[in-house]
Amino acid sequence: MNKNTAFITGAAGGIGSALAKRLARTGHNLFLTDYNESVHELATALTNEYKIQAWSECADISDEEALRTLAARAIETMGGCAILVNCAGVSPKGNGGPIPLESVKIAEWDKVMRINLTAPFILCQEIIPQMAQAGYGRVVNVASRSGRMHVPPAGLDYHASKAGMIGLSRALAGIYACNGVTVNCVAPGRVDTPMTKTTKPELLAQAQQLIPARRFASPDEIAASIEFLVSPDASYISGSCMDVNGGVYMN
Ligand SMILES: NC(=O)c1ccc[n+]([C@@H]2O[C@H](COP(=O)([O-])OP(=O)(O)OC[C@H]3O[C@@H](n4cnc5c(N)ncnc54)[C@H](O)[C@@H]3O)[C@@H](O)[C@H]2O)c1
Repeated sequence: MNKNTAFITGAAGGIGSALAKRLARTGHNLFLTDYNESVHELATALTNEYKIQAWSECADISDEEALRTLAARAIETMGGCAILVNCAGVSPKGNGGPIPLESVKIAEWDKVMRINLTAPFILCQEIIPQMAQAGYGRVVNVASRSGRMHVPPAGLDYHASKAGMIGLSRALAGIYACNGVTVNCVAPGRVDTPMTKTTKPELLAQAQQLIPARRFASPDEIAASIEFLVSPDASYISGSCMDVNGGVYMN
């Protein structure tokens, strides 16, 4: 198993693309996916700049069959997959306050669950067994502060999906620790990415004042935490949830 092989979902996004750049810089071959087609330009740019191999494929990760096919292709293309980072996610926003329980539509709830929780689960199902067989693997699931505490105006579905991701990661960490496979979460607070820009500016200013660091994270600060957890150095950390939030939630 080549330890420098990574599969990243949401790779065209703020955090995913920052992570792809970091891993490319340290010589990882990458299989990048997103439904945003800019993922292809990123793969080409990284291949040219860092002399690694980066493959890209567009897919909607809420489509189970497409996702399973994609995982198989990533393993085949890279000759095994030592690192899985589930970074894709969606965060439907309310009007600023807590979202009324009665207003949540099941279709929307299901969509958020499929993208934020079921897709990472399916990828773990497809990718962890070959890690366990090789005796080495690193999985990082990008959760959220919303999986740790109440964060208005994040949706009820978003809170539940991210808390579910933390529970899933702990269960998998317990099962696969004896196979050299670690499974951890990174739980970002507010990050300066396109996802955050969907919130109204006045609410963003208020949110910033509540953070001890008085600023949002850069995508690269989150990517740096993930980079550590997927490195061989993080060999004895499993089942953890690393809070990366400027001090706004401490556990
Ligand atoms: N930005 C924040 O403040 C923040 C805070 C906490 C957690 N997070 C989490 O970090 C992760 C990365 O988010 P980001 O901030 O980089 O946001 P982003 O919107 O920049 O990136 C998310 C990426 O996921 C992709 N994606 C969404 N749905 C998809 C689907 N069905 N199929 C394929 N790709 C899909 C998008 O195209 C996008 O490129 C997410 O899981 C998010 O929940 C973000």
